[in-house]
Amino acid sequence: MDLELASVFDRARYPLHVSEGRDIGAGHLRGWGLEYGGLLETHVATDPIWQAAMRAARDRGSLVSEHKLANLYLIIRYAMGSGDIHEFGSFSGGSAVFMAKILKALDLPAKVFAYDTYEGMPATDPVHDLHHPGDFADAQYDRLLAYISDHALSSHIETVKGTFDATLPGILARGRPVALMHVDCDLYEPIKYVVRECLPAIAPAGHIVFDDPLHGSCLGAFDAVEQLLIRELDLTAEQAYPHLVFRYPPCHARDATASATALR
Ligand SMILES: C[S@@+](CC[C@H](N)C(=O)[O-])C[C@H]1O[C@@H](n2cnc3c(N)ncnc32)[C@H](O)[C@@H]1O
Repeated sequence: MDLELASVFDRARYPLHVSEGRDIGAGHLRGWGLEYGGLLETHVATDPIWQAAMRAARDRGSLVSEHKLANLYLIIRYAMGSGDIHEFGSFSGGSAVFMAKILKALDLPAKVFAYDTYEGMPATDPVHDLHHPGDFADAQYDRLLAYISDHALSSHIETVKGTFDATLPGILARGRPVALMHVDCDLYEPIKYVVRECLPAIAPAGHIVFDDPLHGSCLGAFDAVEQLLIRELDLTAEQAYPHLVFRYPPCHARDATASATALR
């Protein structure tokens, strides 16, 4: 495999190189490019769509790092299939409005479902989780709703207020395909719940992105990924930097020839 960084911006070339059910070519380019190759600074940051989306993320405030947002931007713009984005854990809405701005700028017929209690974390698991009930209570939900209305984003984002187990079945019952899950809820049981529930609705070229598992405060999130994604579903990660990305259903190879990877 011989990849040029520029191919990450060419939607027609995806999947770039498939191995073990994931686009390892895309994973290499986005991960290496962001961490070592100046991908954010030299390419992404100059794009007006990125700049407008980042303004929205900053307006609402987001705990999601700039490299993680850049990776979401690259997936949504170049690699994501058709369907909606489901974000589990939106807090004050920063990453959700970021993604909605991209969908709107690209004129995609898709929306972000932004799930949260918007009143803080519900029950947590005292063995797996370090977080406590009530963490993230200051979501300022009314201000998020006002922001969506003031910025004419309501056709590209829908907030879903309540615990995931109370709200997700009703949204999935609408029968719309899921293109991307952005799982940012930090907690062991909710992560396993939302992934299991969404699996049957995920469309081809689906991406599952986990914000938390590699953070010291979220070992339970990693437990959930190890148990469900890796051991039970037998999936192999597409990317580990800046966050874990999995593909479901597994990608099909355009060129399954295994060979050395050279990044230029
Ligand atoms: C780290 S914050 C999300 C950060 C956000 N994506 C951002 O851009 O800053 C995690 C959120 O997950 C939510 N959450 C965790 N478990 C939940 C559950 N079972 N149901 C609904 N919300 C949940 C919490 O209320 C919290 O607001």
